[in-house]
Amino acid sequence: MTSPPTVPPTMKAWTFSRPGAHRQVLRLNDIPSPKNPIEAQVLIKVAYASLDGGAMKLMAMVPSLLRPKDSIPGSDFSGTIVSLGPSAPSHLHVGMAVFGLLGISATLKGSGTLREYVCVSAAETLIVPVPEGFSLEEAGSLGTATEMAYLICKHGQIQQDCGYRILVNGSSGGCGSMFVQTAVAMGAKEVVGTCSAPNSDFVKQLGATRTIDYRSNAPLHAYLAKEYSDQKFDFILDTVGSQELYNNSPGYLKEGGTFLNIGDFTSGTLLTLIHWILNTYWPKWLGGTPRKYIMFSGKAEPTSSDWIFKLLQEGNAKATVEKAFNFDQALEALDMIATKRVRGRVVIKVAE
Ligand SMILES: NC(=O)c1ccc[n+]([C@@H]2O[C@H](COP(=O)([O-])OP(=O)(O)OC[C@H]3O[C@@H](n4cnc5c(N)ncnc54)[C@H](OP(=O)(O)O)[C@@H]3O)[C@@H](O)[C@H]2O)c1
Repeated sequence: MTSPPTVPPTMKAWTFSRPGAHRQVLRLNDIPSPKNPIEAQVLIKVAYASLDGGAMKLMAMVPSLLRPKDSIPGSDFSGTIVSLGPSAPSHLHVGMAVFGLLGISATLKGSGTLREYVCVSAAETLIVPVPEGFSLEEAGSLGTATEMAYLICKHGQIQQDCGYRILVNGSSGGCGSMFVQTAVAMGAKEVVGTCSAPNSDFVKQLGATRTIDYRSNAPLHAYLAKEYSDQKFDFILDTVGSQELYNNSPGYLKEGGTFLNIGDFTSGTLLTLIHWILNTYWPKWLGGTPRKYIMFSGKAEPTSSDWIFKLLQEGNAKATVEKAFNFDQALEALDMIATKRVRGRVVIKVAE
């Protein structure tokens, strides 16, 4: 039996002390390692870490006053459990390979995963045993994408064997590519994905029945109305945040159908928040779009661990890692994420 690694007094971590763009504020530092876990905490030796554009925005926006001096970005992780607090869940054990997603308070407080050891609260963190057949590199890309797939099904009330016709706008990114696979696993009758032409084969391999190149078929809403007015979708997931797509959705989304948006690429954070309120509450008799609109703030739900493990273990979803960066190349990894052109996810190798 291999003994668990001993935690050194200090560790390497990417830290920042003021809000800003990653190239301006992020530095590789030596900082104290986490203390032994108490209560329901779990201490993990990080193998791979990842984050998405949302986490980068938090790094740029949250004022220094609300965070410790050495704040650490990163929300997703894979790694090995080093030690557990006395009331940690009994199915977790020392030496177990796990992956997951930090709780929102850890992310907001700058207690992220771009470091060698992380101590997390099992009550607030998604912690999933790495299923057979997945490497730690692949597992490091799965936290946000699988949690979002779970939450989209939950908020969108997508049940097993739904038989839905589903459109995924932005189907080649981290959340889109995982949801295409999830929709197929949930028994969707048809899954149509929008993506750029070079990603078409990739999205089809994930199980999409058809892909639409949103560039050569612009404006997308007019193309969809032409193609799908007599066979409308039951559910639309928008990972891009296109208000135009929602405004025009009666042309291609069934009357009782749902439009669920998670993205803010098109409108930016502030305008997306305004759209969220207006799309949800503006009455139809005052000109509101007559289709159900859902948006939610995704946060780790530890109880989704079983659902996610089953999805992966049964072979219903794979990980897509476009590139794995070394730990000292974290800034290059963040440059790539900021392009909003990543196929699947990128991960940062911390150790193995
Ligand atoms: N609500 C929440 O809690 C929550 C949680 C996670 C993520 N999010 C948000 O959800 C969105 C998606 O996240 P993500 O991590 O999946 O993003 P991502 O991986 O960075 O998405 C990149 C993908 O977006 C596609 N894309 C870019 N512009 C597009 C457009 N106009 N039409 C169609 N596809 C386009 C690109 O595909 P092509 O190169 O093929 O065009 C690329 O593959 C982001 O806005 C993110 O902030 C929200």
